[in-house]
Amino acid sequence: MNPTQQVDAVMQASAASGRHYRDSIPMIASENILSPLVAEAIQGDLHGRYAEGLPGKRYYQGCDDFDTIENIGIESAQRVFNCRFANIQSISGTVSNMGALKALTKPGDTITAVSTADGGHISHHPMGAVGMRGLNLVTYPWDEERMEPDVDAASKLIRTEQPELCLFGQSVILFPIPLQELADVAHEVGARVMYDGAHVLGLIAGGEFQDPLREGADVMTGSSHKTFPGPQGGFVLSDSDDELLQKKLNNAIFPGVCSSYHLHHVAGKVVAMAEFEAHGKQYAKDIVSNARALGSALSSEGFDVIAEERNFTASHQILTRHGGPDSGAGKRAAQRLEDCGIITNMNMLPGDTKAMSGPSGLRLGTPELTRIGMGADEMQDVAKFFARSLLSEENPETVKSDIARFKSEFQTVKYAIQEGPAYPEI
Ligand SMILES: Cc1ncc(COP(=O)(O)O)c(C=O)c1O
Repeated sequence: MNPTQQVDAVMQASAASGRHYRDSIPMIASENILSPLVAEAIQGDLHGRYAEGLPGKRYYQGCDDFDTIENIGIESAQRVFNCRFANIQSISGTVSNMGALKALTKPGDTITAVSTADGGHISHHPMGAVGMRGLNLVTYPWDEERMEPDVDAASKLIRTEQPELCLFGQSVILFPIPLQELADVAHEVGARVMYDGAHVLGLIAGGEFQDPLREGADVMTGSSHKTFPGPQGGFVLSDSDDELLQKKLNNAIFPGVCSSYHLHHVAGKVVAMAEFEAHGKQYAKDIVSNARALGSALSSEGFDVIAEERNFTASHQILTRHGGPDSGAGKRAAQRLEDCGIITNMNMLPGDTKAMSGPSGLRLGTPELTRIGMGADEMQDVAKFFARSLLSEENPETVKSDIARFKSEFQTVKYAIQEGPAYPEI
């Protein structure tokens, strides 16, 4: 491939990806789209710049204008997340976790966390950030019914293991967990408490989910591009007034795990926080009510939706079961749905043990559908498309073209200071 062909290949694949999402029903729970103003902010000159350090204390000249942005952003994050300390430099949720783990632990320490099989993130695992920090991981006993740590057994485990850090938060997350109770036990043994709010950060800030910083978490990390609808990036937050902790957290991001911290994305985060202050509460509320409406509509169509007795969810996610444990039915369902124009991911459910090939379920998210203006009526339409794809097994091409027609009515980003096209004009 010569250089021109290489560039063409990238441009064509990128445009094709845009068309694919424009014409389909995107339901990956960790995804979202950019508002026009955030997209504009991340395209500026800042893309090529460096600003190592904190506002007013830089290693390079030329940072005064960026200092203005970062200072506004820190104050905005303190308001949006209701906390005394905010670092807005981290370039992703994973990097936020790496930084927080660096600040809160030293190699060889023991930490407790949710296992990946129970919905914990890979960065909480020895294969990810926890392993990079050389930590000894002990996972919580899990109540599969309630999808939360078994409080009595987990409390006992924390008292026995005496960890330096108790980490909470999940990638598969339907309901709040008994955080305050477990945080009290952690503090009793002298452990710090960290909550990874990557997925639910927008719901927390919007007042629609449990608020970890009010329920015992010393530090909360998160992504800036999931239910919090900004550009790719992360946050590290704390309500502690412990200046040493705050300093450790800042130092853990720079110079700990970032040098350049993608200044254009910091600018985008600051714009996204302004939009969140204007529209975030309503957005968070609508995400959760859509997820519940979707759970109910899928159940009415005949799908096995997890946690029906608890109204399906209290978050942006719902889980559906498509076969027995380790049957791989989730993988097959996800592929068939994509053939029909619905983008989801296979997911392990309670009972599944084979991580990659065996998941029996799907995880479905409503952040993007909500962002483009879909409501309860459209969740019923979406459930009907699921039924046509998976239950009646209609010809995928027919379903796909009906979905493209349906989706053509939902092409505008809402909950933004300036509404605009949700997908690139191609
Ligand atoms: C709980 C949790 N933490 C961290 C991450 C990583 O976030 P990022 O993709 O921003 O690195 C994820 C990703 O989905 C997640 O689910």
